[in-house]
Amino acid sequence: MAKTRTQFVCQNCGAAHQRWAGKCDSCGEWNTLVEEGTAGGIGSGPASLKSVRKGRPVTLTSLDGDIEDAPRIISGIGELDRATGGGFVRGSALLVGGDPGIGKSTLLTQAAAALARQGHRIVYVSGEEAVAQIRLRAQRLGAASAPVELAAETNVEDIIATIADGKRPDLVIIDSIQTLWTDIADSAPGTVTQVRASAQAMIRYAKSTGAAVVLVGHVTKEGQIAGPRVVEHMVDGVLYFEGEGGHHYRILRTVKNRFGPTDEIGVFEMSDKGLREVANPSELFLGERHAKAPGAAVFAAIEGTRPVLVEIQALVAPSTLGTPRRAVVGWDSPRLSMVLAVLEAHCGVRFGQHDVYLNVAGGYRISEPAADLAVASALVSSLTGIALPADCVYFGEISLSGAVRPVAHAQQRLKEAEKLGFGRAVLPSGSGDIAGGSGAVTFQPTELSDLVARIAGSKRSRAEETD
Ligand code: TYD
Ligand code: MG
Repeated sequence: MAKTRTQFVCQNCGAAHQRWAGKCDSCGEWNTLVEEGTAGGIGSGPASLKSVRKGRPVTLTSLDGDIEDAPRIISGIGELDRATGGGFVRGSALLVGGDPGIGKSTLLTQAAAALARQGHRIVYVSGEEAVAQIRLRAQRLGAASAPVELAAETNVEDIIATIADGKRPDLVIIDSIQTLWTDIADSAPGTVTQVRASAQAMIRYAKSTGAAVVLVGHVTKEGQIAGPRVVEHMVDGVLYFEGEGGHHYRILRTVKNRFGPTDEIGVFEMSDKGLREVANPSELFLGERHAKAPGAAVFAAIEGTRPVLVEIQALVAPSTLGTPRRAVVGWDSPRLSMVLAVLEAHCGVRFGQHDVYLNVAGGYRISEPAADLAVASALVSSLTGIALPADCVYFGEISLSGAVRPVAHAQQRLKEAEKLGFGRAVLPSGSGDIAGGSGAVTFQPTELSDLVARIAGSKRSRAEETD
């Protein structure tokens, strides 16, 4: 018999420790260590086998060779296919993560129904909900008539035995990975050992049969149940389903994709009949704009291959605190400090006595440095009380020297802006050939101070106009 040994496994990062501790040394999380036995588990590895098997040679092959036809299955839900890079890849495993209640089961039920209607064999295995609950949701989504094969099961061996019956499924959906357990690991379901071993078994199934497997994973903040992070490195693709409480829209973000581009997003709106695709996200994020209010600037962003316009809102107000407040929602806090420092050092704009609040409208999150210019404009606009032109978009990176640096995809950003009725743009000089067919009036500063002077000057010129 294998030696019985216990170890303490961090449920956040999966690191194993010999002793219990309040804090995990690897990831710094508190209270995440849980005792797990390793006898016969995957942790014990080949040593637990009765006799160590001699290696068997495998056939080595070349990079060049025949590839199976139609390696992808396309759901027809445009935003989902965009996020997966053109459909689910046969023989691959995809992880769909997200907060509980965000709409993962809804999305996958809709995808399953769409694919089943095309004639694919789709198996949906739920470990969380009873069959009746899933049926209820399907009715609400108008998907009840689709020939999806449904099961409520949590044991991996039973699931694989079930789907091995009959024609190979094209897509197997496991909702969720945290409820699965396998006979080969003897920890409780939901622990890192079980989640990893179960995911491993499903991935092996996908690779050996050529079926696409989708694993649903809940993101947990407390670290009580092992999060999807512990299987991220094992799967071929990772999508995160995100959304802000109070907003109806949801973003499906590609974090990892072995078969397509990352940084791609799919945008949906949650309605009473399930998720609806949002083909033009800019309209959603711009929302109801109060164009005349100071402190708002529209940023022309690029998400993956798609341009998206979002409004950046700044509020700069006199502070009563010794250390003024800096609060950011939807952007990077150190990046805001940097833009503030550049404005102070190179443009003579003083924020030392002011609280600064920055918000990206619609609960959207920006990661691009190209937002610098829009942020700086919104800040200056709020501080001076001068509203920016309502039909103007901003993009460009700001360097610490105060120079405005070019960013990629200027043409695409401009095109999207024009499509939505923005006739003006502020962008870095040297953005390549942007004039081609573009009717937008552009201002291309080389230094941030040029833009600040222009914003401050616009009040004077407007006052002259009204005189
Ligand atoms: P669900 O897909 O069960 O979330 P997850 O699997 O990520 O935990 O979605 C749950 C939420 O979605 C719930 O709050 C209700 C809402 N919802 C709708 O608003 N409309 C719908 O048609 C459906 C099916 C769900
Ligand atoms: Mg669910």
